[in-house]
Amino acid sequence: MNHQAHTAHGELPGKPTAASRTTLSHIMTAGDTNLLGTVHGGVIMKLADDAAGAVAGRHSEGPAVTASMDEMVFLEPVRVGDLVHVKAQVNWVGRTSMEVGVRVLAERWNESTPATQVGSAYLVFAAIDEDGKPRSVPPVIPETEKDRRRYQEAQIRRTHRLARRRAIKELRASRSPD
Ligand SMILES: CC(C)(COP(=O)(O)OP(=O)(O)OC[C@H]1O[C@@H](n2cnc3c(N)ncnc32)[C@H](O)[C@@H]1OP(=O)(O)O)[C@@H](O)C(=O)NCCC(=O)NCCS
Repeated sequence: MNHQAHTAHGELPGKPTAASRTTLSHIMTAGDTNLLGTVHGGVIMKLADDAAGAVAGRHSEGPAVTASMDEMVFLEPVRVGDLVHVKAQVNWVGRTSMEVGVRVLAERWNESTPATQVGSAYLVFAAIDEDGKPRSVPPVIPETEKDRRRYQEAQIRRTHRLARRRAIKELRASRSPD
């Protein structure tokens, strides 16, 4: 991956991935549970959206809204008393949108055992101006081998998202109304 490619295509100067990367930590309490007594998936999704939104706002230096959330995976149940850490970073940037990757880790609040990964997701945020219209975002500069891998994988997801959307649109347009 050529860093020049990320800084030359836009008017805005590129920003390294590390500049907006963040971790949101939250302790799970009884109010976060589902009917089974483990933590409700929606609670984790909200934390993922919150962390990703902070990253998108920091990278784009202004308001950004969630356009999509996909591949949300829950690997292990999260329990009351778990300290949940949501690690988020910009994986890829388009003209006005950003893909943010989140990894969700959980550890017992009162034990010194290592945190385990309990989930992950990819969110697309669109940066918006004061009228709610998409605005340009700075290119991202992936600095590490991991950042560069994530950038390339995000491009694959982007291609698939657009192709899927286009194919469904075309199919619907070709069908006669009920
Ligand atoms: C997201 C939103 C700003 C897109 O507006 P739009 O008029 O469709 O604008 P565009 O088609 O130019 O899309 C803007 C960017 O978002 C991307 N995008 C839009 N919808 C997307 C989707 N469903 N999945 C992935 N990317 C998407 C576009 O590819 C484009 O990216 P690019 O400029 O980097 O190529 C608009 O749909 C919106 O305001 N949605 C509501 C967002 C919100 O309120 N979220 C909180 C949930 S309550």
